[in-house]
Amino acid sequence: MTPDSLVERLVLTGTAPDSEIILLVKEAGLQRLAGVLVDEVLFRCEDPVNTTAVDVALEVTHGDELRRTVLRMVRGEPIRVLDADDPSVLIRRHFRFALPDLVRRLYGPAQPPHSRDFTDVFLPERPADLSELPQILQATHQAGGTLLSGCTTGGPGLGALSVAYGSDKWASFHWYTQHYEHHFARYRDRPVRVLEIGIGGYAGDLGGPSLKMWKRYFHRGLVYGLDLFDKSALDQPRLTALTGDQGDPDTLRELAEKHGPFDIIIDDGSHENEHVRISFDALFPYVRPGGLYVIEDLQTAYWPRFGGTAGAETAPDTSIGLLKRLLDDLHYAEFDPKPEGARTVTQAQVIAVHTYHNIAFVEKGVNGESSIPAWMDDEAWKALGAITPEEGRELGRSR
Ligand SMILES: C[S@@+](CC[C@H](N)C(=O)[O-])C[C@H]1O[C@@H](n2cnc3c(N)ncnc32)[C@H](O)[C@@H]1O
Repeated sequence: MTPDSLVERLVLTGTAPDSEIILLVKEAGLQRLAGVLVDEVLFRCEDPVNTTAVDVALEVTHGDELRRTVLRMVRGEPIRVLDADDPSVLIRRHFRFALPDLVRRLYGPAQPPHSRDFTDVFLPERPADLSELPQILQATHQAGGTLLSGCTTGGPGLGALSVAYGSDKWASFHWYTQHYEHHFARYRDRPVRVLEIGIGGYAGDLGGPSLKMWKRYFHRGLVYGLDLFDKSALDQPRLTALTGDQGDPDTLRELAEKHGPFDIIIDDGSHENEHVRISFDALFPYVRPGGLYVIEDLQTAYWPRFGGTAGAETAPDTSIGLLKRLLDDLHYAEFDPKPEGARTVTQAQVIAVHTYHNIAFVEKGVNGESSIPAWMDDEAWKALGAITPEEGRELGRSR
């Protein structure tokens, strides 16, 4: 089992019966599985707030087996994993989870467990110097809270995550996260595949803030990023950085064949209008039915240097032009006269186009609603008690 397929199976067991988790332990071993769980907990933990350093043990058990990881927490520093034999280790708190309980906490539905599902030993040893007790008590309490913040599915909202990881999707030039919250909520508990074009980062900074934000938000999600630059150093469980040009449809199709289909695709790449259209045309077929294709930064439709149209009305070859076309495709059943030949992919599969300032969400499904039958002429409407458009206009004029 490769590391990627192990993580994927683990994610799926979050909602599976215990027997599947036990089968997975048999195949992969407790040590290996617990290692993946500890990485996930560390990724989710909030920053420590305790000013006095505290060592906390995270223990995962299965039958008689136990895996202990010692974590040192102190404000202003990343949480450190210590070697249990390190002579400086002084464990102030133990949290012990049975493996299936921790799996459910991390990859189960985003609700707090309704009963206590772990054991906790608080300050097993009396501090040598009792004058330090108040400070040690508080720090131990805070460090425990930090560890538990990483042992849950729920977490901060997308605005806070965007700021925490350094994305510009909220409280910057953009205010996108409220729209993301609205449209993504129903996917949050699902083992989704998400692809974002445009990983971000500047000289000296590898980037990936929004990929980390999606990984944290979609606690069962597999997140892929695509960028012109090689950012594979960002790779970690559930997050893969791919390299390629969004203006090249063959590259896009190749990556989608390998890693898709996707539940969600987000275009936050070059924002060149031509690239936006090429990417949409190549990748929309790889969005799962019921999924979403998101396009950010629609303002470039009005910027000629990005291939946009100057003035108040955008041309068909811009991102806004694409959305206008999709609105027409959505209403395919209403075209008069009825077009000949098969529907295009977007005529058959676009079921909604939600557009906000500078961001759009295109929903995929079966665009199968039929029109009102052509034989419903004025006479038929009259039979239903309706007035004809002509009669309506007459009435309006006479008032
Ligand atoms: C706005 S940043 C992405 C920010 C990130 N999504 C976030 O929210 O933090 C745009 C990224 O698109 C990448 N990019 C530019 N042109 C591209 C292209 N033709 N294909 C793929 N990626 C491209 C850039 O290298 C840059 O990393």
